[in-house]
Amino acid sequence: MNGPALVLERSEADDRAEFRQAVLTGLARTPRAIPAKFLYDARGSALFDQICELPEYYLTRTETGILRQCVAELAVLAGPGCALVEFGSGSSVKSRLLLEGLRDLSAYVPIDISRQHLDATAARLRRDYPGLNVQPVCADYMALTELPAEVNGAPRLGFFPGSTIGNLEPAEATAFLRRARLLLGPTGALVMGVDLKKDPRRLHDAYNDSAGVTAEFTLNLLRRMNRELEANFDLSGFAHEAFYNAAEGRIEIYFKSLHPQTVTVAGRSFAFAQGERVHTEYSYKYDDAGISALARSGGFSIDRTWTDPARLFAVTYLEAAP
Ligand code: AVJ
Repeated sequence: MNGPALVLERSEADDRAEFRQAVLTGLARTPRAIPAKFLYDARGSALFDQICELPEYYLTRTETGILRQCVAELAVLAGPGCALVEFGSGSSVKSRLLLEGLRDLSAYVPIDISRQHLDATAARLRRDYPGLNVQPVCADYMALTELPAEVNGAPRLGFFPGSTIGNLEPAEATAFLRRARLLLGPTGALVMGVDLKKDPRRLHDAYNDSAGVTAEFTLNLLRRMNRELEANFDLSGFAHEAFYNAAEGRIEIYFKSLHPQTVTVAGRSFAFAQGERVHTEYSYKYDDAGISALARSGGFSIDRTWTDPARLFAVTYLEAAP
């Protein structure tokens, strides 16, 4: 048996219809916004991998360093025999640190919305760790309500790295944690990576890299609309915009029209004024109090937090609150 254990079957046509609906709704709203998850088509995912290597984008390498340092302690906290459940597995560099550091896992359950990514990841892991029980789940983890029956009975350790939680607005972040709490069960725990509040300049630069990769990542959404929704965005007529909103504690990302123009998307016309923006992402930054409040609101308590010496990033071990 090699396919995903649990497939909430999504065809390419379903994906396309969902994208179309989200874009048409998002462009008709005021203010305009398109959900961040649509940034990750094949090219978007490859661009995000490049972002993770940028000198300005400290998040990935800092988190990886923290995980290397804390994995032995994590193994003790988690105990033997857990099923490791990863929310949004993408490519699995960080998961490998845990797979190697947490001995005698009963299973690894990568959850990813992209069937292609998931199948490739599962095949590589089965090859590299022949003894590991890999139980992939093809699903949107924001909507998932059950795990494969194969992991029933094992204590569950969730893994949500990368500060992906930062993409979610506070109410969504709480909803995600509550859902994770239900999936992981009353003896469950969650290892979560969170980007910390810091010098706004540093934050700004992480989303405005000098090589322009982050701008490409944002503008790739226009390419995707052109290709999948028969849109006619002129990429030279729009620009990436990202800034830190200190009052809200978040990076805000948009694409912005450089001059007045009209664009057709899936047969509908949308007029853009000069300077008009379409929101694509938030990236919330937390401090200790914010992480605690978030954990509590989601039904968890913080057992342990690890950070790097410069306190750029945090990895927290959350336990299901009774
Ligand atoms: C994957 C959501 C953690 O917010 O830092 C990076 C996405 N967007 N650069 C982030 C992102 C532009 C990233 N997360």
